[in-house]
Amino acid sequence: MEITKAEDNISQRIHAMGHRVDGFKAQGLYYYNQPISELCGGARVLVNGREMDMFASYSYLGLIGHPKINAAAKAAIDKYGTGTHGVRTLAGTLTIHGELEETIAAFKKAEAAVTYSSGYATNLTVVSTLVGRGDYVISDKLNHASIVDGCLMSGAKFLRFQHNDMEALEQRFQQIPSGSTKLVIADSVFSMDGDVINFPKIVELCRKYHAWLMIDEAHSVGVLGKTGRGIEEHFGMEGAIDIKMGTLSKTIPSVGGYVAGSKELINYLRHASRAYIFSAALPPAQAAAAKAAFEVILEEPWRIEKINANAHQFITGLKQCGFDTLFTETAIVPVVCGSAENALIMTRDAQQKDLFVLPVVSPAVPPGLARLRATVTAAHEPDVIAHAIDIIQEAGKRIGLI
Ligand SMILES: Cc1ncc(COP(=O)(O)O)c(C=O)c1O
Repeated sequence: MEITKAEDNISQRIHAMGHRVDGFKAQGLYYYNQPISELCGGARVLVNGREMDMFASYSYLGLIGHPKINAAAKAAIDKYGTGTHGVRTLAGTLTIHGELEETIAAFKKAEAAVTYSSGYATNLTVVSTLVGRGDYVISDKLNHASIVDGCLMSGAKFLRFQHNDMEALEQRFQQIPSGSTKLVIADSVFSMDGDVINFPKIVELCRKYHAWLMIDEAHSVGVLGKTGRGIEEHFGMEGAIDIKMGTLSKTIPSVGGYVAGSKELINYLRHASRAYIFSAALPPAQAAAAKAAFEVILEEPWRIEKINANAHQFITGLKQCGFDTLFTETAIVPVVCGSAENALIMTRDAQQKDLFVLPVVSPAVPPGLARLRATVTAAHEPDVIAHAIDIIQEAGKRIGLI
């Protein structure tokens, strides 16, 4: 008997999600896509008509709204207009794209770089261009969804290893027939936990087993390394990564993604990766903003010192209150709440006191590890961080979490 559209899997999925969302709304615990209507200085935002301290931003160095970056974006609109003329290979490459790619290559101490229209698209297209059927791709279990999707799309044999467990990675290598093509991928700083990959060991293993190494630096550019260049600089291991991936939507207050690496690699990606060939490039204002932001990072090194001091203050303060912040060492600070309900109540309490934090619940993190995913930036001042800790502490005490 044929099922009707109203009963089929698509309809069931749509209804189940609608039901879940309605349930959260009915309890006043729905925090999805809250619109920010205004930026009120570096670390405050207007949400639902209320000015709040922003503790959910990926703008780690506080560069959103930076006058030099805003000016660069405005000048690019005057020069090029708001769009490109189409996909890059036909009419959509502008001089600003080349200038941005040169800036990224210099910043990442690589021979060359290529940009794409989002970080998500970058991972999808780069992984699926580099490996395919018969190859192996090995990924940390907590890697970002865009990496997972790229691995699945590639058709390569997809192996995962326990999070940041280098013995588990070595076991994976030992399962692979010798002579196979291998690509290993990891986040430098993990997006939900804030911890740092064991970089020296992953590099050593990739060399031992002749594997390519791709590192996603979405959360380490501007945060790790004395000059904010990322994980290679942090560990003093320049040149250790084959494929240096990053986004232009976090520390860099724009949108887009990039890969930096050897000239040969970048030349290959320009001619073979489908998101480059079949999709339009960054709008000129965003390309110019991104280029200016890389310059600002080098011109204003105090921001890197400040983000690290702020992260230290926030993590230490929360730990002293008795919160579990997992293994974070960076600006991403998980405040583990246990159940999704706890995380949602903590969010409500914090927002009622004008602290803008957001919850992360299953399936984005394992059940039982629902959390506030709080972040600090270089735009926060110590008294504001201390106040945020007080608010989170009060909320945690109220529900018996600490
Ligand atoms: C580790 C990581 N990689 C890639 C992405 C995707 O980047 P974008 O948001 O710029 O598309 C994200 C986004 O949050 C991320 O956290």
